[in-house]
Amino acid sequence: MLVTGGAGYIGAHTAKALAEQGYRPVVFDSLRSGFLPAVRWGDFVHGDIRDGRALREAIAAHGIREAIHFASLIEVGRSVERPDLFWDVNVGGTACLLDALRDCGVNRLVFSSSAAVYGQPEGLAAADLLSETLPTVPTSPYGDTKLACERMIAAYCRAFGLSAVALRYFNAAGADPSGLIGEAHDPETHLIPLAIAAALGTGKPLTVFGQDFPTPDGSCLRDYIHVTDLAAAHVAALDVELPAGAFEAVNVGTGRGWSVLEAIEAVERALCRPVPRTLGARRAGDPPGLVADPSRARTLLGWSPVRSSLDQIVQDAARWHADQRYGRSVKVNLEGNKETISSLRG
Ligand code: UFG
Repeated sequence: MLVTGGAGYIGAHTAKALAEQGYRPVVFDSLRSGFLPAVRWGDFVHGDIRDGRALREAIAAHGIREAIHFASLIEVGRSVERPDLFWDVNVGGTACLLDALRDCGVNRLVFSSSAAVYGQPEGLAAADLLSETLPTVPTSPYGDTKLACERMIAAYCRAFGLSAVALRYFNAAGADPSGLIGEAHDPETHLIPLAIAAALGTGKPLTVFGQDFPTPDGSCLRDYIHVTDLAAAHVAALDVELPAGAFEAVNVGTGRGWSVLEAIEAVERALCRPVPRTLGARRAGDPPGLVADPSRARTLLGWSPVRSSLDQIVQDAARWHADQRYGRSVKVNLEGNKETISSLRG
C-alpha cells in the first residue's frame, strides 16, 4: 500500500491502522512537513510526489497494488497568499502520481479531500448538514485544488479503469491513544492544539476568531472527527467493492457541530485549567459552519465514528500535547540526505 504523505498527521495514523489490518504500508514523503518519527509502520521512501521517476521506482520496488494519497499543502490562509505553490504541489503532484499509478498498473486509490470543497453553500444555516450532492463552491485556493484533484481523479477513473474514493475530511483532531503519534504542524493553526498550548502555557493566548457568526454563541461551528476514526475510514474505503471506473466522494465527519467556545470549554475540562484567550476579528475565509451529513459513509463504507465525542478527542489531544513525543528538535527537512533519515528513524 503506497501512502503518500504518510509521515504527516492523518497519514501516520492511517499507516498504523493499515498495519493493524494486515496491510503493508510504504510511506512516500518529502518530509517538508512530515515527521520521520511518525513513520513507524512499514517502509519509508523519501521522495516528492512531483517526481514521477521516484514514484515509479518506489511502486516497482515495493510491489505496490493500491495507494492512498495524503501528500499535499493544507493551510487555507497560505493558499490565498501562494496559490502557485498549492496548484503545483496539490494538483501537479496528483497528476504526477496518477500517471505513475496508471503506468505501473495500480488501479485502486483513496484520496485525501476536504470539506473545503463545499465553501459556503447558499441558503444553508451554519448547523445544516452538508451532503455530497451539494454544489461545490470552494472559497480558497486550497479548496479549489482539492476539488480540481477530485475531478482529475474522476476523469482518470472513467478513462483508464482506476477506481477511487475521495474522502472529504471535516475537522481532524485528537491523537492515537498509544501516545506514539499525534498532531504536529509547523506552524500550527488549528483550534484544538492552539487551545491546549495556550492552557499549558507552551503557546500564546488563543484568539477566538469572530463572535458575530449566525450561530447560537456567535462563534463558528465545526464537525470534529477523531483522527483514529478518520484513519479507519481509509481502511473501510479500501475494503469497499467498486467496479473499475468508479469514483465516489464521501464525507468523513460525525454530523454534530461544536462551536469554538464549546471546543475551548472541552479543553478546559480535559486539562482542569483555563484557556487564556482574547476575542478577535473573523479570520478571512472561515465559513460559519461546516458540519457533515455522514450518512453516505455509513451506507457506502459501512463506517461510523466510535471515538469522536468532543471530550474524547480533546482528552487524547491533550495527552499527546502534554507529552509531545516528536519534540521540536526532530523536525527534519532533509533535501535528500538518506543517512540522516535512517539515523532519525523510530
Ligand atoms: N479558530 C479560532 N482561533 C484559532 C484557530 C481557529 O477561533 O486560533 C477557529 C476558526 O475560526 C474555526 C475553528 O476554530 O472557526 C476551527 O479552525 P481550524 O483552523 O482548526 O480548522 P478549519 O475549520 O479552519 O480548517 C480545517 C482544516 C482545513 C479544512 C477544513 C475543512 O484545517 O484543511 O477544516 O473542514 F479544509
